[in-house]
Amino acid sequence: MNIQKIISTDIKKALINFGVSENYNLEIFKTSKMHIGDYQSNAIMKIAKQLKTDPYNFAKNIIKLIKKNNIYENISVSKPGFINIILNRQWLSKILDINIHSHTLGIAPISPETIIVDYSSPNIAKEMHIGHLRSTIIGDATVRILEFIGHNVIRVNHIGDWGTQFGMLLAYLKVNKNFDFIKNISLKNIEKLYQKAKKKYDEDQNFAKLSRQYVVKLQSGDLYCQYLWKKMTQATINYNKTIYKKLHITLQDKHIMGESAYNTMLPKITEDLKNKGIAVYNQGALVVLLDKIKNRQGHPMGVIIKKKDGGYVYAIIDIACIKYRCEILKADKIIYYTDSRQHQYLLQIWEIARKAGYVSKHVLLEHHMFGMILSKNRHPFKTRSGNTVKLNILLNEGIDKAKNILLKKNPHLSAKDTEKLSTIIGIGAIKYADLRKNRTTDYIFNWDEMLSFEGNTALYIQYAYTRIISIMKKSNIDVTKITSKIQLIEPYEIELALHLLQFEEKILYAANQGTPHVICNYLYQLSGTFSKFYENCSILFAKKTAISHSRLKLSFLTAKTIKKGLNLLGIYTMNYI
Ligand code: ARG
Repeated sequence: MNIQKIISTDIKKALINFGVSENYNLEIFKTSKMHIGDYQSNAIMKIAKQLKTDPYNFAKNIIKLIKKNNIYENISVSKPGFINIILNRQWLSKILDINIHSHTLGIAPISPETIIVDYSSPNIAKEMHIGHLRSTIIGDATVRILEFIGHNVIRVNHIGDWGTQFGMLLAYLKVNKNFDFIKNISLKNIEKLYQKAKKKYDEDQNFAKLSRQYVVKLQSGDLYCQYLWKKMTQATINYNKTIYKKLHITLQDKHIMGESAYNTMLPKITEDLKNKGIAVYNQGALVVLLDKIKNRQGHPMGVIIKKKDGGYVYAIIDIACIKYRCEILKADKIIYYTDSRQHQYLLQIWEIARKAGYVSKHVLLEHHMFGMILSKNRHPFKTRSGNTVKLNILLNEGIDKAKNILLKKNPHLSAKDTEKLSTIIGIGAIKYADLRKNRTTDYIFNWDEMLSFEGNTALYIQYAYTRIISIMKKSNIDVTKITSKIQLIEPYEIELALHLLQFEEKILYAANQGTPHVICNYLYQLSGTFSKFYENCSILFAKKTAISHSRLKLSFLTAKTIKKGLNLLGIYTMNYI
């Protein structure tokens, strides 16, 4: 149930009845001060200003036209023109009861769209590092949220399995005849070889040339190159799978559709772009000049799509990929999770794809970019020796730190439970610290902060959940079987009820804007609201059984909402800490 939407629809109807036909976007807020009302809107003041009329009288006239029903207890106007709404307590109680029994927590069905989410997408032959953390975590939260509200979500792991790194590796193997490597291909060995190959590539022009020739050789289907390429790709994928498992990421093998997958489409697309006059030869390379996007000198931006040596580049692969996603996968929307440095590039390839007619007008292309992860000194987060932080090492460190915290609180925990719970806590802390920030901003990576029981952390919310579960256990009552109604009398009960009923509006907002931090803030506040309720309203020892039952129901729904909310972020709960 989306209370915000109900109120705004009713005010809109009243406006139309009053003769205001323009479709305004009405902002409705839950108030933090109960004496004002449960919800408030300042929208009428904005409209009154545009209509050049007195907001107070205008608001008064509008509320007279809001249809009376069982949802509203009272609707009033306060100066200069706020509409204040008190919701009917019995109605709230009824909706809460419905949500207790609903596995979607009462979310209304939407009209589903096919949404492609391109995320994680690490480069092959390299270990995943901290730079892949945000794309992987935020992308995975988004797919969970979109799927939950009912969209048809297609996950795509656009792995970088076709680039220059393979040219270097293959050329190095050719020159140095590393038979041992070929016999035992693991990501560790690939990385070692790559470091040597890259050094040679940067120092030796002839080797660089040979490497580029090997890229072309691979791309044109040379069997030996393909054989080695497949082995190296598979070794990296297998390794990355262990990272996804540790991080509770829902990407699987079937979601991999990397750069190489579009290879057979490239000659035709290049031809098509040439025929349509979109791509032209410039000094031997095939280039698209974009009028709408200018370079620093103010000239149309040139995007190379095929190099002089015949090698295809990253851009043409992405153009083919868009065509495939629109024509074959029938996307309504494509969302890219990469950092902000790729924004300009994405704008360019979208423009080319639209110009070529590969994307119809109704398809939305969105770049959900994100900021950087910084260390305390505000520089990019690196190891002590100044190297890129490997993801696996970072995750293990988080799990180890969680283990210490856990054992301090529960020294007698079994080894099995310690293992399981420290992963839930450690991984939850890392993910939550990232998700709770608005994704467009940079954030500082801080172990102490993210692993604290206090403040806006996963642990604080997970702990609130655990506490509720222990209350439920103590009560010995199956809440789903309670037949008496929820009673909303005390302010703490009402506040908790209103908070619980904000679930849908928050989820929809996060889904539409691609902002999981809205869900984090919601869960944090919900946990805080529950704490206040718990401190002020006795649950198990209330004077009347009906009240105790009512409060148990509110507690149960809080636990259910926290669990669902955290799961949508890819974070798990536990029954005890
Ligand atoms: N592999 C790229 C990187 O590591 C990200 C790919 C993003 N997706 C895309 N379709 N370009 O930066």
